[in-house]
Amino acid sequence: MTSAEIRSAFLNFFATRGHQIVPSAPIVVKNDPTLMFTNAGMNQFKDYFLGNRPAPHPRIADTQKCLRVSGKHNDLEEVGVDTYHHTMFEMLGNWSFGDYFKKEAIEWSWELLTAVLKIPKDRLYVTVFEGDAKDGLPKDEEAAAEWKKWIPSDRILLGNKKDNFWEMGDTGPCGPCTEIHVDTRPDEERSGVDGKTLVNSDHPQVIEIWNNVFIQFNRLKDGSLQPLPAKHVDTGMGFERLVRVLQEKQSNYDTDIFTGTIAKIQEITKNDYSGTDTKSDIAFRVLADHIRAISFTIADGQLPSNTGAGYVIRRILRRAVRYYYSYLSYQQPLLYQLLPVIATQFENVFPELKQQEAFVAKVIREEEEAFLKTLENGIKLFDESIFTSLKDSMGNLPNIGLPKETVEKLKGITSTLKEQKQAWDKTFEPLRKQLEEIQKSLNIVFGKLKGDLAFKLQDTYGFPKDLTELMAKEVGFVVDEEGFNAEMQKQKDRSRAATAIDTEDWIVVNEGTSNEFVGYDSLEAKAAVLKYRKVKAKGKEAYQIVLDKTPFYAESGGQVGDTGEFLIKNEKVKIVDTKKENDLIIHFAEKLPSSLEGEVTARVDAGRRQSTAIHHSATHLLHAALRKVLGTHVAQKGSLVNADYLRFDFSHFSKMTDEEINEVERLVNEKIRENLPVVIRTMPKEEAVQSGAMALFGEKYGDLVRVVTIDPTYSIELCGGTHVGATGELGFFKIKSEAAVAAGVRRIEALSGLTAENYIQEQFLTVRVVREALKNPKDLNKAIVSLYDENAALKKQLEKFEAAQIKALRDGLVQKAEIINGAHFIGEVVDVPSADALKKLAFELKAAVPNPVISLAAAIDGKASVVLLFDDAIAAEKGLDASALIKQKISPLIKGGGGGQKTLATAGGQDSSNLRQVIATVKGAL
Ligand code: ALA
Repeated sequence: MTSAEIRSAFLNFFATRGHQIVPSAPIVVKNDPTLMFTNAGMNQFKDYFLGNRPAPHPRIADTQKCLRVSGKHNDLEEVGVDTYHHTMFEMLGNWSFGDYFKKEAIEWSWELLTAVLKIPKDRLYVTVFEGDAKDGLPKDEEAAAEWKKWIPSDRILLGNKKDNFWEMGDTGPCGPCTEIHVDTRPDEERSGVDGKTLVNSDHPQVIEIWNNVFIQFNRLKDGSLQPLPAKHVDTGMGFERLVRVLQEKQSNYDTDIFTGTIAKIQEITKNDYSGTDTKSDIAFRVLADHIRAISFTIADGQLPSNTGAGYVIRRILRRAVRYYYSYLSYQQPLLYQLLPVIATQFENVFPELKQQEAFVAKVIREEEEAFLKTLENGIKLFDESIFTSLKDSMGNLPNIGLPKETVEKLKGITSTLKEQKQAWDKTFEPLRKQLEEIQKSLNIVFGKLKGDLAFKLQDTYGFPKDLTELMAKEVGFVVDEEGFNAEMQKQKDRSRAATAIDTEDWIVVNEGTSNEFVGYDSLEAKAAVLKYRKVKAKGKEAYQIVLDKTPFYAESGGQVGDTGEFLIKNEKVKIVDTKKENDLIIHFAEKLPSSLEGEVTARVDAGRRQSTAIHHSATHLLHAALRKVLGTHVAQKGSLVNADYLRFDFSHFSKMTDEEINEVERLVNEKIRENLPVVIRTMPKEEAVQSGAMALFGEKYGDLVRVVTIDPTYSIELCGGTHVGATGELGFFKIKSEAAVAAGVRRIEALSGLTAENYIQEQFLTVRVVREALKNPKDLNKAIVSLYDENAALKKQLEKFEAAQIKALRDGLVQKAEIINGAHFIGEVVDVPSADALKKLAFELKAAVPNPVISLAAAIDGKASVVLLFDDAIAAEKGLDASALIKQKISPLIKGGGGGQKTLATAGGQDSSNLRQVIATVKGAL
């Protein structure tokens, strides 16, 4: 079977058993502070397990794009080194929400694996939970009993909490699980060593393929387990591993999931892949794996960046670049070239990649180019540090027991360091090669790479730490672990102080799970408090409150959360923000009312909401206009909508021209004048997409979607935000700026409604003021340009006059030079227009006479200005110090201050009545 056939077999099997097949949720998680990326198929169903929302269907199955590179589940370091861990992988899953339980789950997984997919039964082992005293959990007898129906008892193994109690994260849904493992070793090996003994021991050929979790608890922040209202099934099968087993390969990378990509890498780099564990083969696997994670994450809307999820993607990408740079000797962007293979391969499963292929390739390519640049510089820095510390420790090297001959060799390398470095154009490449060779034969540690340098390489140059470690090892160094960790801790402390949020457990006020949003139709509602909790962020305490129903819109889809107030027993509490956690609507208050019992009147700030709605509807009009004017490659990449303005990020490759911006504005304003009704309907997602709604990637599975239509031929979008009733309410639309934000992504900031009107008024006023200042010219632009030109011409003329004046002054003063004590002394109070001219004059004089001691003073705009300029040799010989003279003697005379060096110093002061005395002072000193 091909991988595509295997995927279909899984989905069909569960479809015929009453499961609804749904698409994968995006790989990037929004609205869940406990999770950055989807790390299991069940993530998108978390609320159904917790009982926050009813499941739309009791049985669901899908294949989910998952990423395990951060948080509780992190496999990154194994990836590529072994043959069965991945960054992104597909998780095949089937779910029961309070419907079937252990009996059916176990029976079906057995049936699918052995009867449909025909995995030999004697290659399978299962594990069940042995219980845990600390959590007060018994052994899972029920699962064991179900398994006994299908598999001999000696193949049912007990597993501990680590392997057989599955948890999504530090908190959240969890429960005991049963895992299915396959022994893929050849028969002769199997008869030698019992497969049972290799389960869960990191054997590359005895691997887990399927996990069946029986979700029964919610892990709370305090570590305790809270039983859930219903029992659920959550399963996850590693698709890549399943395919490998069925295609009878020893490595996931030998299946048809990866062979296309590997062939492409061979073609590009002219290296061969042979499936061993050499560095170059590891590099092949790293690339074949990482390109999937990188491209699907970008396609799902997460661009590489310096923080959070974006940084994780950047790290994965850099790990890949480092591998091809160092081990495939390929020093240009490579990853983006693999995109066509992946996009086409997954066209029918995850079409979002094919649809954005050009955009994703562009983002990846620019990331690669940027890192390739720092990679080279980082390597230089690394080399320099290694050789400096080697040179410094040269004297100690014999003490660590190195053979004399080696020490001599090392000395030879380091002694000519400086010259060689220059000759080799600032790189230590040849030196490193020599050192690598010595190291290869000796395998001895020469020294430690400074921790702060390793950290700097990571932090500034983007070197993952394992890269630095590897490079160090090759030249006989180790990374100073302690120093590195200390730097790391410092940085963590800094960022924790900036972002830390400490959340306490919920305190329930009223039982209930409904948490309805009623704010599309009304801005006020009578409600009851369900629960609240205290949070601490940046040292400040605040409270989060959940109501059974609320008119407050929670921040999502780029639209800010509502603000407003709660009225409880005549007490007012200000609500400063509203956010979502999964689908739970949470109100933020700075303080709690004295009582949370009884009826709450929740009231949204109506003015702010209206202005926000105006900007949201304007965003839809803008999005549609951009697609009309620039083309359908324009896709939303980010959005912010609040009461003051809108910000819209979209994929587009070049700066918009003035004409394009004008055309977009014109279109949007035309739609505003047409006063089109904004029609909002809720319908099944498929129907919405059929009717032409822009499928915004990032929608997660849910039976019904909200479709916002403004003229069915113009704008149809899936959107949960709040909108105006008709476009006329927008009044007016104005783009304020258009700029680049990332590779292939542009950003527009725009205004609508009153804010747009105010903005235009401001602009108008500015122009009027300028106009009046220029005496109301007919053509304002021309007037400004000619003013500039005139100004420049005058400046040039002035400079010419000044030069002539200085020359004339110079010639006169040279005549007056007196020879005093072997020096040519010129001291005069002169008439020049600026301090700068005075200085120029001094330099001209210095050049005109031998052994000069120049002292000039001028009254400029009533203020004193002084320059002293002495010949170096004379100053030294006579012990003259211009700076000291200025500071000690001249400053008091002119009521000011100044300074400089021994041979050149200047001063300025309020009093210009003693300038003659200034000159006399210098003369006296000479
Ligand atoms: N949620 C379970 C897992 O990820 C199935 O292993």
